[in-house]
Amino acid sequence: MSAAGFETIAALVRARSGIVLGADKAYMLDTRLGGLMREHGLANLDALAVKLRAVGSERLASAVTEALTTNESFFFRDGKPFDHLRRLLPRLAAARPATQRLRVLSAACSTGQEAYSVAMVAESLGLAARLEILGTDLSQEVVRRAREGLYSQFEVQRGLPVQMLVKHFRQEGGQWRISPALRAMARFETGNLMADLRPLGTFDVIFCRNVLIYFDAPTKTRVLSGLADRLAPGGGTVSRRRGNGAGPDGPLRDHRG
Ligand SMILES: C[S@@+](CC[C@H](N)C(=O)[O-])C[C@H]1O[C@@H](n2cnc3c(N)ncnc32)[C@H](O)[C@@H]1O
Repeated sequence: MSAAGFETIAALVRARSGIVLGADKAYMLDTRLGGLMREHGLANLDALAVKLRAVGSERLASAVTEALTTNESFFFRDGKPFDHLRRLLPRLAAARPATQRLRVLSAACSTGQEAYSVAMVAESLGLAARLEILGTDLSQEVVRRAREGLYSQFEVQRGLPVQMLVKHFRQEGGQWRISPALRAMARFETGNLMADLRPLGTFDVIFCRNVLIYFDAPTKTRVLSGLADRLAPGGGTVSRRRGNGAGPDGPLRDHRG
């Protein structure tokens, strides 16, 4: 692929998602975009770049961006954020009127494991009825999967304690379906972290994990500032920057890089 072709695709993905594709990522374009190229009868990545530069390429541009997202996720990922949530939720519930729902945002939720892990924590604390979880992601395909709440054996083996599996999932063919009760606690929508986040409203807890790593520093700042704006007074954020662990009495803003 020519340098100009790579630059076209990288610039487009960056403008649409914030994801920075360094030259060291050129190798993955062929694999990730092969299906789209075949579907559109394009011989190679340079031909794809030419098509993307043409007028009326909106749907293709969106499909290319989506194909270049990394959607790895698993239940109770990294453990600690969910320990933190276990301490945080009762405090927040006590601080808010009993009739008020606690709103949790799972930003860049991928296939929904993070949102459903939050639901399981709330359920274990007897707070399920108090919670409203919104998961958003740029990729339509992962949002569809999150809504479906159907996971492979491999996916449920990643991070999900077996008691939780038995309690909250039922087997369907060779896969596992989230229980209707947990499914009802979460809503999933497509959403871009680069967009205006104000229409989402405010949240008591915001998870934004394993996505900022794909952005450059100004984009990270912009996204974090947009999310901080969406945080209700006294709420908590869980992102991912190492070295600032929040203990039980630690800061509610738990940015972990
Ligand atoms: C590695 S997954 C992380 C999933 C989950 N938060 C976790 O920690 O397990 C990153 C997700 O970020 C999404 N993403 C990337 N850029 C985005 C953007 N600008 N707006 C919203 N989602 C984005 C991708 O589609 C992908 O599903």
